[in-house]
Amino acid sequence: MPPFSHLGRDSIKAIVVYLRSHEKLPNHAAKVDAQPDAHGAPRLGEQWYDNICSTCHGMAGDGYAAGGTGTAIGKPGFLHKVSDGFIRTTVKNGRSNTRMRGFQGPAGLANLSSQEIDDIIVYLRTLSK
Ligand code: HEC
Repeated sequence: MPPFSHLGRDSIKAIVVYLRSHEKLPNHAAKVDAQPDAHGAPRLGEQWYDNICSTCHGMAGDGYAAGGTGTAIGKPGFLHKVSDGFIRTTVKNGRSNTRMRGFQGPAGLANLSSQEIDDIIVYLRTLSK
């Protein structure tokens, strides 16, 4: 995803409005971002990350650049924009119609506890430092 700032503020706003016009469900962004920050053990999170997430997102979260089939979630360009609530909700529920399945409940790729997911978030945050 290269930057597109050359399009200018008005064009980018228009694209956002167009994308939002496809929305079929209510926008939960404010509620998701208002969730509390993650607290946990980065060392445990690293083990989960290396065992499960790195398969698609790459060992250092480099994503496609490292040959992964998932996005670059270890990069500052991602981590500096998203809230812990956003990461938590994505990991719990997954993304419909993508290879990112949820990681909680019996239908999940793995049934991680809420604490285990927070451990992963705390670990991810160490990658952008
Ligand atoms: C089977 C491959 C696969 C596995 C395993 C996987 N992911 Fe993903 N993940 C993806 C893909 C593909 C996307 C992009 C989905 C999309 O197109 O919206 C994604 C998206 C995400 C996003 C949102 C990123 C963004 O750019 O918005 C987060 C956060 C995430 N994954 C975290 C994790 C974590 C944490 C784990 C381990 C518990 C994990 N993923 C395991 C494939 C995977």
